[in-house]
Amino acid sequence: MFVCCQSLMCRCDPSLIHSLLPLFLSSIEWELTDMVVWVTGASSGIGEELAYQLSKLGVSLVLSARRVHELERVKRKCLENGNLKGKDILILPLDLTDRSSHEGATKAVLQEFGKIDILVNNGGRSQRSLIMDTNFDVFKELIELNYLGTVSLTKCVLPHMIERKQGKIVIVNSLAGIVSVPLSGGYCASKHALRGFFNCLRSELTKYPGIIISNIYPGPVYSNIVKNALAEEVTKTVVHAGDQSYKMATSRCVRLMLIAMANDLKEVWIAEQPFLLVAYLWQYMPTLAIWITNKLGKKRINNFQSGKDADSSYFKIWKTKHE
Ligand SMILES: NC(=O)c1ccc[n+]([C@@H]2O[C@H](COP(=O)([O-])OP(=O)(O)OC[C@H]3O[C@@H](n4cnc5c(N)ncnc54)[C@H](OP(=O)(O)O)[C@@H]3O)[C@@H](O)[C@H]2O)c1
Repeated sequence: MFVCCQSLMCRCDPSLIHSLLPLFLSSIEWELTDMVVWVTGASSGIGEELAYQLSKLGVSLVLSARRVHELERVKRKCLENGNLKGKDILILPLDLTDRSSHEGATKAVLQEFGKIDILVNNGGRSQRSLIMDTNFDVFKELIELNYLGTVSLTKCVLPHMIERKQGKIVIVNSLAGIVSVPLSGGYCASKHALRGFFNCLRSELTKYPGIIISNIYPGPVYSNIVKNALAEEVTKTVVHAGDQSYKMATSRCVRLMLIAMANDLKEVWIAEQPFLLVAYLWQYMPTLAIWITNKLGKKRINNFQSGKDADSSYFKIWKTKHE
């Protein structure tokens, strides 16, 4: 199943995958309609696109992030283009690092909609800085936000799912939770931690087969992730995000995420090549993966220091071959 999920999500042969998918997978519309879905990090990028695609399905949506005006913009667009009414969308401001607020936020969702079917733990930030140049506070912040914030919110929602013996906890991890690359030491650590924690949680919940833990690992996807990435200091962000247009379209990543959610997939890798191949190497041939990462790592650092996106040049090689 594990390998099968990965193969379904790769882009090696989209026509074959698209023709085979309906034979194996339930439709998103059938499985997700009428659900209450809580999306964190809904003000931008992957979370924002999730809100748009979910709003076409007839779900009840809870949109969380820190920037309320951005959430209001997303809600307006959901109402313009989706099938929802104003009462179907709750804007719930939430700072993942403010753990004392998570219990109250969970109660607010239950008060509004009476249940939580799906929690999508999506909010997070990345990092672009060398470990030796990076202040310790940056590593702390990434663990507080990406790891502990996610764990805390999940712990608040889980008792409700356990009581109902059903629910889906989705974790938007990253290939950086499987692969380690230079410039993202704190980010990779936080995402590796999530992988360890949620795989353990799944094993502890075997008494509740109706509760699904779904780890989703996207590769590079078009969003504001690099622009918002932490740099050497907590107060500093990346100066030049570089061209992001070569990355997987946000809409495609989210479509694949919804297929995974509708079908209760537990381990989901979503990436263009060659990133998916590198993840396979880390999984199955770590010695070779370390050798390749060390070679490509120098290029990654050079790209970043010259103002390009860190991964841009690997993609060009692949793209040229396919044009
Ligand atoms: N894009 C990629 O290439 C990629 C690849 C792999 C994994 N991912 C993962 O995908 C998730 C979404 O990232 P994205 O690519 O969509 O980036 P993005 O466009 O920068 O969006 C990040 C979201 O996280 C929210 N957020 C940041 N700090 C927060 C905090 N303290 N409390 C609550 N929410 C917070 C932001 O909202 P506010 O600023 O309004 O709070 C925003 O909505 C992240 O977990 C990221 O690690 C992304």
